Amino acid sequence: MAGRIPRHFIDDLIARTDIVDLIDSRVKLKKKGGGYRARCPFHNGNNDSSFSVNEKQQFYHCFNCGASGNVLTFVMEYEGLEFVDAIETLANQLGIEVLREEVTHTGGQVTPYVDRKDMYLLMGDITKYYQQQLSQHKNSEKVINYLKGRGLSGETVKHFKIGYAPEGWDSVCKRFSNTPEIEKQLLEVGMIKRRESGGCYDFFNDRLMFPIIDRRGRVVGFGGRVFDNQEPKYLNSPETPLFHKGKELYGLYQVKQAHKNINQILVVEGYMDVVALGQYGIDYAVASLGTATTPDHIHTLFRHTSEIVCCFDGDKAGRSAAWRALENALPYIQDGRTLSFMFLAEGEDPDSFIQKEGKENFESLIGQALPLSDFLFQQLLAQVDMSSSDSKSKLAQLAIPLINQLNESTFRQMMEERLTKLLGIELEGLKKLLPKKEDSNKKNKKSKTTPMRLAISLLLQHPNIAYGLPDFPEFQEMQLPGLTLLNSLLELCRVSPNITTGQLLEHWREKPQGKQLNQLAVWQNDVEEDKYEDVFLDILENFLNLHLNNKIEFLKQKDRSSETLTSKEKRQLTMLLMEQKPEQKQN
Ligand code: UTP
Ligand code: MN
Repeated sequence: MAGRIPRHFIDDLIARTDIVDLIDSRVKLKKKGGGYRARCPFHNGNNDSSFSVNEKQQFYHCFNCGASGNVLTFVMEYEGLEFVDAIETLANQLGIEVLREEVTHTGGQVTPYVDRKDMYLLMGDITKYYQQQLSQHKNSEKVINYLKGRGLSGETVKHFKIGYAPEGWDSVCKRFSNTPEIEKQLLEVGMIKRRESGGCYDFFNDRLMFPIIDRRGRVVGFGGRVFDNQEPKYLNSPETPLFHKGKELYGLYQVKQAHKNINQILVVEGYMDVVALGQYGIDYAVASLGTATTPDHIHTLFRHTSEIVCCFDGDKAGRSAAWRALENALPYIQDGRTLSFMFLAEGEDPDSFIQKEGKENFESLIGQALPLSDFLFQQLLAQVDMSSSDSKSKLAQLAIPLINQLNESTFRQMMEERLTKLLGIELEGLKKLLPKKEDSNKKNKKSKTTPMRLAISLLLQHPNIAYGLPDFPEFQEMQLPGLTLLNSLLELCRVSPNITTGQLLEHWREKPQGKQLNQLAVWQNDVEEDKYEDVFLDILENFLNLHLNNKIEFLKQKDRSSETLTSKEKRQLTMLLMEQKPEQKQN
């Protein structure tokens, strides 16, 4: 396992990266009022200033789509990177190395420090080795003939870094496993396996190798194809710290290399499909790796393009794979994003089709792809017999849960209207059946004001109001919803003079409350600019008084009941009563 990146390193990185500089170098910002504005890069709107960047808070927020976050969030969303990759990007910009903690095992022993970078390097070296073997191994002729038979040019093979894993079950072991250290790494990246009788053997044997490259150009796994009819036809790397099948998309790196702005991405089923399409100039195809198209895939794809076309076989399996992709995609649909489906004739796949019919014919099929809405209703209508009496309620039952997964958008309205037409009811009637999904922004405005929410949002928006405040041990003893969260925020703000909203929120990125805190950070409360400190301190004081009163009440109760107070408790009660302000004395 790679060592964790320490918290203080992330804090420091965020503190040293200015959000205005960072965003301005990617999206032109205009100064407006006290802040900066731009057209939002995260949704397709025509409002030139819905996206606002607050320099003081080091935080951005779009009033339309609700996107918000700090420098790290921006890099993740804008560049389509994972958390750790975004940290590396920011570190690179500052010219510093990412710091990692040493990995300790439960025994307390410190294992040798293994940077994940080494594992990537190792995977890169194995890729090169497989590429060499393609032309140098004694089986080279067989392999090259196979590639020729499949119509692939040398250039294409090089472009996709295709290689050959030699037969014999020990080539990687022999070539790379020189030290116990490396052997451990090879096991960890899934390239070798341990034999029960001792020693190791290769995971891939006598296969054509397709390296799976992550978004940053690093090989994280392989798919290996047999040359004959053996099973399995394709063997994929196991899940490893570097490789997660449900997240990676074969070919995405090459698509990103070929296009600065990716107009559309075509999702196909197989490695060979991506490769063959690439050879014929369709350099915008990716494949999910023998799994269904996952929500993670859809999310990743929509970070890179606004138009996804899924291409499946025309058979039953292809249709059901398409349906699963549709279900996973619904929550990610927004205005300006489209998803459509194309189906090939039975027995065809994109590889066989393009080799026979060529690029133009294939692209004209893409042009005829079925929009999500058509595909959805087509599939649902196939399940109900519209001539039967209960057909409409069945259709409603099937369609409503799906429509409910859509965000508020013109697209959702269109789907609702289409359903009402089919059902023959008024839109109003349908609205009653559809609980309205609110977009996060509207939700913010409607949030109920409770003192706790207000206190947390004021503190998030103006972290300096808590700087220098004392510790309130009372808060540890109280059970008030949200108080633990407020207290953790206070702990950070009390001791950090210049902490910003962006830095503060970073501490909650992976935590369950993170989303809610993000909303409170952009929540428009009605507190006037010069009053927020007073309002905040008033709320804290009320909490403390509440605690005091509860404690007094508890001791009084005890005193009244048969139990007598110990002398210590009596003293405590007297002290507490003295602390209590006159206006709060209840009796
Ligand atoms: P297909 O069986 O449709 O193969 O699998 P294909 O892509 O047409 O391959 P060729 O043309 O015969 O070489 C589609 C995808 O499903 C995954 C692979 O990712 C493959 O590309 N798959 C298939 C596996 O992971 N394992 C298998 O045994 C078969
Ligand atoms: Mn095929």
